[in-house]
Amino acid sequence: MAVPPSTISARSAAFHAFLRGARQHPTASDASTVSDFLSRTPELASLQEEETGKSPLMAAAEIPSLHLLETLLAAGAPWNAVDRRGRCAGDYAVAAGSQECVDLLVEAGTKAELLLSASGRLDKASLPATVVEAGESDAVGYQPCTKPDYLSGGVRYDGDSLLDEDDDAVMMEWERPLMSLHADVITSDEKGKRVLNVGFGMGIVDGYLAGKEPGHHTIVEAHPGVHEKMVKDGWTEKANTTVLFGRWQDVIKDIPDHSL
Ligand SMILES: C[S@@+](CC[C@H](N)C(=O)[O-])C[C@H]1O[C@@H](n2cnc3c(N)ncnc32)[C@H](O)[C@@H]1O
Repeated sequence: MAVPPSTISARSAAFHAFLRGARQHPTASDASTVSDFLSRTPELASLQEEETGKSPLMAAAEIPSLHLLETLLAAGAPWNAVDRRGRCAGDYAVAAGSQECVDLLVEAGTKAELLLSASGRLDKASLPATVVEAGESDAVGYQPCTKPDYLSGGVRYDGDSLLDEDDDAVMMEWERPLMSLHADVITSDEKGKRVLNVGFGMGIVDGYLAGKEPGHHTIVEAHPGVHEKMVKDGWTEKANTTVLFGRWQDVIKDIPDHSL
């Protein structure tokens, strides 16, 4: 149903005022004002600027303001929305140099993913919007956790991100601290372990795993573009390393029994 023009301009104006306010008033007391505002107009938390794709969450991360991030996440702001350049709030927090904001966003994303998989709510209607026009319409795009045609589409490495052909992020540099912790946990921070990673992405976790000098390192990757990058970067020639190209569901049987 079309939104009446008066509502469009009112909502758009409110959204831009909200973004300006967030930039100018990043403190705890202002967060409670923002919270009051959001309780009256909750949809503001998930709108994005039409031109830039910037969301209030990104604006809060850019400041960076932990209080505003907490307030917006509590109001349902989607943690995984991306702007027109493919950057999410986590990228803004990295650029702002705020590890505590990055950690908060990682925690929010982890909780959301766990809840979604636990409840099996993977239909489009239940997923957060990735791009929403400010004041013009409701959500213009939804992104399921896994795109059915991802493996047959293109990917590209763009500085600090790996993007799919829709310019949605597959992996981002701000996830590095989490990958480092994964490598510590997987190896118990010891050398000589036999390790397996499914999904090379940007090779961040594999870089950390390789740094643990594993007894053997197996990497499974299904995307041709990502595999090409692995070949280019020498991963297929690396000592003590096996790269299996294909979906893990298909190639897992090629890993010798008891080798891990
Ligand atoms: C989020 S990225 C992994 C990022 C990686 N942990 C890092 O540190 O950079 C997911 C990767 O899994 C790959 N992938 C997706 N589906 C797969 C499947 N069924 N089997 C193997 N790899 C898959 C994708 O191509 C992508 O490279």
